Amino acid sequence: MAKRILVTGGVGYIGSHTVVLLMQAGYDVVILDNLCNSSVSVLGAIETITGSRPEFVQGDIRDETFLAKVFSRRHVDSVIHFAGLKAAGESVGKPLVYYDNNVSGSICLLDAMLKYGTRTLIFSSSATVYGIPKKLPIPENHSLSPVNPYGQTKLVVENLLESLWAGGQDWRIARLRYFNPVGAHPTALIGEAPQGIPNNLMPYIAQVAIGKRPSLGVFGHDYETPDGTGVRDYIHIMDLARGHIVALQHCEAGNPGILTVNLGTGKGHSVLEMIHAFEKASGRTISFEFKPRRPGDVDASWADVRKAFNTLGWQAMLGIDEMCLDAWRWEMSSGSVTSGGR
Ligand code: NAD
Ligand code: WQD
Repeated sequence: MAKRILVTGGVGYIGSHTVVLLMQAGYDVVILDNLCNSSVSVLGAIETITGSRPEFVQGDIRDETFLAKVFSRRHVDSVIHFAGLKAAGESVGKPLVYYDNNVSGSICLLDAMLKYGTRTLIFSSSATVYGIPKKLPIPENHSLSPVNPYGQTKLVVENLLESLWAGGQDWRIARLRYFNPVGAHPTALIGEAPQGIPNNLMPYIAQVAIGKRPSLGVFGHDYETPDGTGVRDYIHIMDLARGHIVALQHCEAGNPGILTVNLGTGKGHSVLEMIHAFEKASGRTISFEFKPRRPGDVDASWADVRKAFNTLGWQAMLGIDEMCLDAWRWEMSSGSVTSGGR
């Protein structure tokens, strides 16, 4: 019988792409989402891509009664936990909101898993837990020192998972630290659609390319990097989604314990490189102007990806050209449904 995976936040950007791959791999998927940053129309797009509609339960991971219903009405083999708030800048002004959603929400979810006997969990962590990199590439055993409440919530949950695992009861846990996910499904039916002005580089570039915004502000050009602009490890969303499938299979294979891995490409690219790659993919000129540094930004960050390869046999296959091409197709696909409320 197909294994049943509960995907919290499965209507969102990373969740929806992972759901597609889970369904295509033969899993029985149940999505749980409160739609605070996504649109239910994503389910129709998933159905178009996969040929069937995933089961959807609308609700909040902080709602114990709701979770009890979800877990008591069906057997859940594993949980992939994406649900959470993710805007690092916003979290500075709203720490309580972030701790409530990301930490209290995870506690409620874990409590329900414990009560109903589900012991396999894949958790969305972030490279933001490393804080300011002390060395590059960043290995998993790098010191953990997040610089904003969002990153702190991720670290609190990572630590909680470590304690749970250490307490016995046969947990199988993967903590996946994502670097910078970008791009969209190659069909351009699902992708990332931030509400309002994009915080992140790639959606901003795409909106300039299509003419929604006049020009990109490049935050800082005096960093300690080859061209002076910030360097990051951008990873194609399909590679990232695939990382979840292999992590899940690793846990299902009976590997006991807790696994912590970086999911990135292991390569860093500057803001100017990303602009040029997007110009190549779109055939459009991206106008930009240099602006002051954005507070909290680091010069450069990219992943040490050896552990992901050695433990999971996973490595990123797609480069910045594919990332930009798929992001551009997604931006152009008017009438597409969205994961973020466009
Ligand atoms: P997203 O906002 O597109 O998806 C998150 C989904 O969770 C949304 O559909 C939202 O409606 C839902 N959600 C939020 N709070 C919820 C709650 N309390 N109960 C039920 N549903 C809830 O974000 P994403 O980019 O897909 O990120 C998914 C996860 O990956 C998040 O935990 C995020 O912190 C983490 N992450 C994201 C990035 C990134 O750059 N996108 C990088 C590292 C880690
Ligand atoms: C990338 C580069 C900017 C926008 C963020 C979160 C992090 C993680 C991933 C969740 C930087 C520059 C950006 C713009 C620019 N999310 N930039 N103009 O900051 O590496 O990571 O997303 O866990 O927590 O902080 O990504 O896309 O915002 O920035 O010049 O309009 O692009 O300065 O060098 P970041 P980003």
